[in-house]
Amino acid sequence: MCGIVGYVGEQSASGIIIEGLRRMEYRGYDSAGIAMISEGSIVSDKKAGKLANLVDSLAENPLPKAQIGIGHTRWATHGPPNDVNAHPHLGQQRRVAVVHNGIIENFTTLREELESDNADLISETDTEIAAHLLERTVAETGDLTTAMQQVCRRLEGAFTLVAIDANDPERVVAARRNSPLVVGLGQGENFLGSDVAAFIEHTRDALELAQDQVVTITRDSVEVTDFDGTPATGKQYYVDWDLSAAEKGGYDWFMRKEIFEQPEVISDALLGRHTPEGTLQLDEVRISEGELRDVDRIVVIGCGTAHYAGLVAKYAIEHWTRIPCEVELAHEFRYRDPILTRNTLVVAISQSGETADTLMAIRYARQQRAKVLAICNTNGSTIPRESDAVIYTHAGPEIAVASTKGLITQLIACYVLGLYLAQVRGTLYGDEIANTISALGQMPDKVQAVLDDAETVYQLARDHIDASSILFLGRHAGYPVALEGALKLKELAYIHAEGFAAGELKHGPIALIKEGLPVFCVVPPKGRDQLHDKMISAIQEIRARGAKTIVLAEAGDDSVKPFADELIELPVVPTILQPVVALIPLQLFACELATLLGNDVDQPRNLAKSVTVE
Ligand code: M6R
Repeated sequence: MCGIVGYVGEQSASGIIIEGLRRMEYRGYDSAGIAMISEGSIVSDKKAGKLANLVDSLAENPLPKAQIGIGHTRWATHGPPNDVNAHPHLGQQRRVAVVHNGIIENFTTLREELESDNADLISETDTEIAAHLLERTVAETGDLTTAMQQVCRRLEGAFTLVAIDANDPERVVAARRNSPLVVGLGQGENFLGSDVAAFIEHTRDALELAQDQVVTITRDSVEVTDFDGTPATGKQYYVDWDLSAAEKGGYDWFMRKEIFEQPEVISDALLGRHTPEGTLQLDEVRISEGELRDVDRIVVIGCGTAHYAGLVAKYAIEHWTRIPCEVELAHEFRYRDPILTRNTLVVAISQSGETADTLMAIRYARQQRAKVLAICNTNGSTIPRESDAVIYTHAGPEIAVASTKGLITQLIACYVLGLYLAQVRGTLYGDEIANTISALGQMPDKVQAVLDDAETVYQLARDHIDASSILFLGRHAGYPVALEGALKLKELAYIHAEGFAAGELKHGPIALIKEGLPVFCVVPPKGRDQLHDKMISAIQEIRARGAKTIVLAEAGDDSVKPFADELIELPVVPTILQPVVALIPLQLFACELATLLGNDVDQPRNLAKSVTVE
């Protein structure tokens, strides 16, 4: 949730930290702060609100020059977003400064302990506890690394901590448990970040850390231990996307840029995953074909948009493999004592690979001896590392809080997985698989065609600037599309929006329909006659009650025209793949409407990109 940056080297630490925070701000933007060591003292500034407030404050009152420091951008958990609760937090003697991502669950006990020992705690945060504990421990041990190891052994919950000690201007020490942290390996300088975007401008060599590890960086060294001080090693990797991927590239929002990148990332997500003849080759799936043949049940888990990707996956996987497939919100799944066996395949979908709800769910699933396959976008993140297998989605960095290309590539990965399972288990003929692969291969062009007509959707957004409620209807694979269309509007435009399965309408939601209410209707392709015709009936029913219908239907489907107040034509694709093209106008609509309303599209209120607390 929060974004963290650490630096030690020869350059000006404040410039590097502020730049890193700018790239981390998508993770949380309730406050921002910086602390550095200058001439044996901690110098620090922090401000509630967006990073710009901190930047203004530093421009007015510059901090002394320093070559070591830490920075933080916050998504508030303990205590409201104000200057006092902003990170970094300092120990009582101002010797140690700490930034933190996560929740220290035993903080009340630790706070009471500190207060009974005369600690003067000024914020409402759990982080300040860590700062005080670290400062007290470093005063005893004289060594920040040892102090970090000792303090981490006392903490419960999820945390990334990054600390500096005014008496030791050479080292930044960090630790992680269930919360992300990567090391950037430079020449004569080293970096820490919640993800690689924090330092991508300076190095693409990164070091991935395991759970419960402490890392100490100096200009020339990186040392990793566990919480007991036993030396450990991180896993080095190369970040294969460049700086431009983390920049807006002329777009007003990252989100809009990411929407328009979708043709390219669909190609990337398919790259190397099939032969020219259409045989799937998933070298990265480290679950044997024998084990996949034994799978008797699939449970797909995820949260938010990733959960909707799972709902689409269910239609494809069951249809192609005949394996029963359930989809569940990861946080519901984890705490309801689900029945899992060694023949259950749990598919965990997560763009960030750090979502705490999903992480806890996969840990639980593996304890029950189920196999876990992650579908993930973020190399080196925790969920794929703790899974038995991974399919990376190759969407590149997704900076906007609202997921777009992350979702579309999750869908591609789900299709690829479904077809692979069908291939391994022989539930589809080779030519059927090859035909679907060929249809997937055409998706970049189909999506591009929808994007080329963005202006039609933008006009719709202009026409609905005063809407206070918008509904979305879909059937079959169009149902998750409706849910996602509504989520995007809630997230970005802050207006009431609901997605319904069209068949459910008459069981209650139709009572919401009133004169002029805009309703997006996702119509299945004509090839699926029953589904298609039933959707048309639903559209007629709501139109008869005064709804304004905005119909998404495949080009050439003349049967919808009499019932569509507005028509968005979609390229002709197989039914099961239709979400890939149908989602695009809904993404564009939400992005444009939020822009017109003056909302911050990339950083919507109350949200954070990566939800690393349960
Ligand atoms: O990183 P993840 O895919 O695990 O994130 C899951 C959800 O938090 C995420 O999809 C969220 O719903 C997005 N803000 C949707 O736009």
